Amino acid sequence: MFLRITSQALFLLAAVATTSQGADYGLDCSFPIHNYNSSCGDLLGDRKAFYEDYMEGCRQYYGKKGKRCDATEDDRLIMSRRQPKSMVNYTDTGFKKIKAPEGVMKLLREHWERNKNSQTQEVWPLGNTYVNHWASPTYMVSVEDQQLRGTGGMRLKNQIWDAAKTTIEEWTGMELKPTSMYGIRVYTEGAVLNPHVDRLPLVSSCIVNVAQDVDEPWPLEIYDRHDRAINVTMEPGDMVLYESGSLMHGRPFAMKGRYYANIFIHFEPTGRPLSREIPEGGADQDDEFYPPYLLKDSEELENWANQNPYGWKKPSPTAAQVDTPEGHYYAQQGDLEKLKSLESKNPKALLKKDRNGWTPLHEAIRIGHTESVKYLIKFGADKDLRTHHGKGGSPLNLAIGELTENHPVSRYLSGIGAKNLGPEL
Ligand SMILES: *[C@@H]1O[C@H](CO)[C@@H](O)[C@H](O)[C@H]1NC(C)=O
Ligand SMILES: *[C@@H]1O[C@H](CO)[C@@H](O)[C@H](O)[C@H]1NC(C)=O
Ligand SMILES: *[C@@H]1O[C@H](CO)[C@@H](O)[C@H](O)[C@H]1NC(C)=O
Repeated sequence: MFLRITSQALFLLAAVATTSQGADYGLDCSFPIHNYNSSCGDLLGDRKAFYEDYMEGCRQYYGKKGKRCDATEDDRLIMSRRQPKSMVNYTDTGFKKIKAPEGVMKLLREHWERNKNSQTQEVWPLGNTYVNHWASPTYMVSVEDQQLRGTGGMRLKNQIWDAAKTTIEEWTGMELKPTSMYGIRVYTEGAVLNPHVDRLPLVSSCIVNVAQDVDEPWPLEIYDRHDRAINVTMEPGDMVLYESGSLMHGRPFAMKGRYYANIFIHFEPTGRPLSREIPEGGADQDDEFYPPYLLKDSEELENWANQNPYGWKKPSPTAAQVDTPEGHYYAQQGDLEKLKSLESKNPKALLKKDRNGWTPLHEAIRIGHTESVKYLIKFGADKDLRTHHGKGGSPLNLAIGELTENHPVSRYLSGIGAKNLGPEL
């Protein structure tokens, strides 16, 4: 008995020793997080000089407005001190590394391969210090630009969103509403991502490593519940789920390599728990002024109320689907009954243009749903309305391109005299 306990104890000691291999440090060692002055000395090399250099780069880049860099930093530190402790945490650890669902990865890889040469440089707000973009510019491969090749546009975006949503909902046990996903961000040699928590309502999130060309892993540094640093390394195909509103995260060590391409997908909890074990009430009040993920009496409430004077609006179950306008969403699903139900509920949604100038009619054409196309035309959709606010193709042009000339949708549109107008060059 005694021997057994001893060997177990030895094993435990060994395990502890292995996990704490490498540097064991807390906040403010690798980068300022709560305070500018660290007490870690040279544990990680001269990080103070590294940080000074970082800030000097920002100040010089913005010239006369260089002070804005320092203001951003003050704000970041205040947020890092106040926000994490004000949040409801839905998981034990705040993060989890998994393999990205195969379906999502396939879409992302294809999209990346087709469009990696159509990167656009990201423009950061004045004085932004979240990435050292003045030294290592970042680029973006959009996932919603309809002009990009392949399955770009709302369809790709929705598919990625749906898959990520299910994964993170299972992990947090809460129903989620998509809030933002910009595209695949490409970091370049020397990049540093300043440790931070995300601005609300970016609460439950994930990062997917899409592709990389690096000389050594570029660690994502996060802090556990005891504020100890942990390096999480990711290979292409890895997905890190994290509670981005409360978990400090960054990449304070400069990236060594050519590029690192990843996508961030963000959600907001709706307050409706998915598991029946969590009792109703409390978390699911309709008349709450504050969002359900802020702790009662927390320091963050005052700041939140200043920024949201009308209070929190609980997302409706349909809004929790995707951020697509309702009419577009039903058209994409080929759901004629739901489309028809909008006629009395929200008729404008049947003709609404999204950001790319697409209407539900264009969506119905893309999936080849003849009945929805007929219905929308009869309802009053313009048979010649070009996408992209006039710069894209007309409905018949889209039908021929996506479905062929002989498809019933194309034949129907020709039959009613629709014109085949191509994109304006
Ligand atoms: C994280 O990685 C950096 C860079 O490789 C290293 O200097 C640091 O000690 C690591 N931190 C931890 C907690 O392992
Ligand atoms: C702490 O950091 C600030 C800003 O970098 C600096 O002005 C101040 O002198 C430092 N204080 C101490 C005690 O080192
Ligand atoms: C939630 O997580 C953050 C970050 O780990 C932590 O600082 C905070 O205290 C946690 N909140 C609660 C209520 O435990």
